[in-house]
Amino acid sequence: MNLETICQQVNSITKEVGVFIKKQQISVADIETKSKNSLVTFVDKTAEKKLVNELSKLIPEAGFIAEEGTSTKKGEVYNWIIDPLDGTTNFIHGIPCYCVSIGLIRNEELVLGVIYEINLDELFYAWEGSKAYMNGKEINVTPTLTLEDSLIATGFPYYNYKKQTEYMNLFQDLMKNTRGLRRLGSAAVDLAYVACGRFDAFYEYSLNPWDVAAGAFIVQQAGGKVSDFSGGNNYLFGEEIIAINPHINEEFLAKVKTYFGK
Ligand code: IPD
Ligand code: CA
Ligand code: CA
Ligand code: CA
Repeated sequence: MNLETICQQVNSITKEVGVFIKKQQISVADIETKSKNSLVTFVDKTAEKKLVNELSKLIPEAGFIAEEGTSTKKGEVYNWIIDPLDGTTNFIHGIPCYCVSIGLIRNEELVLGVIYEINLDELFYAWEGSKAYMNGKEINVTPTLTLEDSLIATGFPYYNYKKQTEYMNLFQDLMKNTRGLRRLGSAAVDLAYVACGRFDAFYEYSLNPWDVAAGAFIVQQAGGKVSDFSGGNNYLFGEEIIAINPHINEEFLAKVKTYFGK
């Protein structure tokens, strides 16, 4: 099977699981706490089991890096990177912004990404060599030329206190010197929105590979630039990411350098 065919299959698997998630009703008793501010429910876990089960059939030798730990099988060449429900806190609170996010790496390189934004029924996807698409239509990052004209998304690193002062200083600068800041509560949706030109940029730290794998790939296939906070390539396992329209990348990195000293 080539990657395009695999992507088509992943698209339908991801949508099916999204439909499953949407139908679930949860109560307070269903909310488990993994660690401070980190919630999970049977919906996350069941969705992940379904994904692992279906994706195993597509590339039997592939391993998994999955948030809820359904499978820890390591693949020698291929590994799926799965967030069965990105935006769990939104989901629990009835805020309709959450998604399923599936990335695929070959050795250490991303080759496929699929994000399904469940409530808007928006499927974002790309595979190695392709453009980026949303519901069958090609998508691109914005052509915005300055940060002043940019709408920026971020996420709050509430459980990692180490770099919070640096983060808040950058936040304040961007608040004053851009069109505005948004915090949706789903890193994968944030990235999908950079890919399709709703946001000009997204940045966050304290993220895991499953939060960013699919989205980072789709942003790049949509013409965007993805890096860590130093402008380097360590964004998948390095816990920090900038995904941005390339015109404003240097201007953004200069601000990050000012506050994070990179
Ligand atoms: C979270 C979301 C959120 C981000 C958190 C993530 P989850 O993922 O992506 O936007 O700020 O750091 O943990 O737990 O809802 O899958
Ligand atoms: Ca989580
Ligand atoms: Ca996540
Ligand atoms: Ca999750």
